[in-house]
Amino acid sequence: MTCEIVYYSATETTTKVVSVLSKKISEEVIFSRVDMTSYKKVVPSKADLIIFASPVYGGRIPSSIMKCFEMKCTKAKKIVGIAVYGNMSCGVSLKQYSKLARKHSCLLIGVGAFIGEHTYSLEEAPIARCRPNETDLEQAKLFGLAIQDKVNRGINEEVKIPNTLFPLFIEKFPEGMVKVGVKKPIIQGSCNGCGLCEKSCPTKAIDPNTFIIDNKKCIRCFSCVKKCNRNARKAELIIKGLKYLFSYIGRKNKESAWII
Ligand SMILES: Cc1cc2nc3c(=O)[nH]c(=O)nc-3n(C[C@H](O)[C@H](O)[C@H](O)COP(=O)(O)O)c2cc1C
Repeated sequence: MTCEIVYYSATETTTKVVSVLSKKISEEVIFSRVDMTSYKKVVPSKADLIIFASPVYGGRIPSSIMKCFEMKCTKAKKIVGIAVYGNMSCGVSLKQYSKLARKHSCLLIGVGAFIGEHTYSLEEAPIARCRPNETDLEQAKLFGLAIQDKVNRGINEEVKIPNTLFPLFIEKFPEGMVKVGVKKPIIQGSCNGCGLCEKSCPTKAIDPNTFIIDNKKCIRCFSCVKKCNRNARKAELIIKGLKYLFSYIGRKNKESAWII
């Protein structure tokens, strides 16, 4: 069985989940990392099984990432959908995988919702700190084994996604709404111009010479904040006190879960 893992990850929690899961799936795994600009060049997958994985933004899979996933799908493929979320809600993301499969006549054989440290988690206001933890990654391992077993035994059963309280019309909300509450990260002084932030920015929002962020392109994913070795970028909420509210909402740790 050949398997392609198509994934997006701004702050690497999704990367952790797919790398553990991949070890249990097949010897022939291709990793295709995509970002918000990749839909211009993505080609359909040739693998027998495609695993899609993305963080949840605003209760859904970001639309540019979903566009990439759509372009990877070809008829009659087996697919798996993974959503990594910051302990608030995975929203309609799993339902989106169901819709993706239906639209491209693919068979959705499994879905997983895993917890990753929330992008806006701060030391003084933590949300799902240090997740995925050992327990989450153990679940990723078990999910990988279950996928392999289902494929090897030729079970062609579609998974049923449980209903959520999160309405599907959320998908139609403007994605940039987070900008109302979160400032674009600014350089605060210790930058040595290494360019890591610019290279890893999933929307190519950072100028390669000045390292200034284009506010229009910035989606507040905080890849630049979390990847900087010198902590040179500062992240801030517009209403500072909101961090405590977010931390309060996300205080009760949810469990990573999957269905096959
Ligand atoms: C713009 C934005 C919106 C987000 N929306 C949600 C959300 O609706 N629910 C949630 O639980 N986490 C949400 N998060 C948190 C991320 O889903 C979470 O931190 C995830 O682990 C990030 O994955 P990554 O490390 O692979 O980039 C959001 C993060 C960002 C940047």
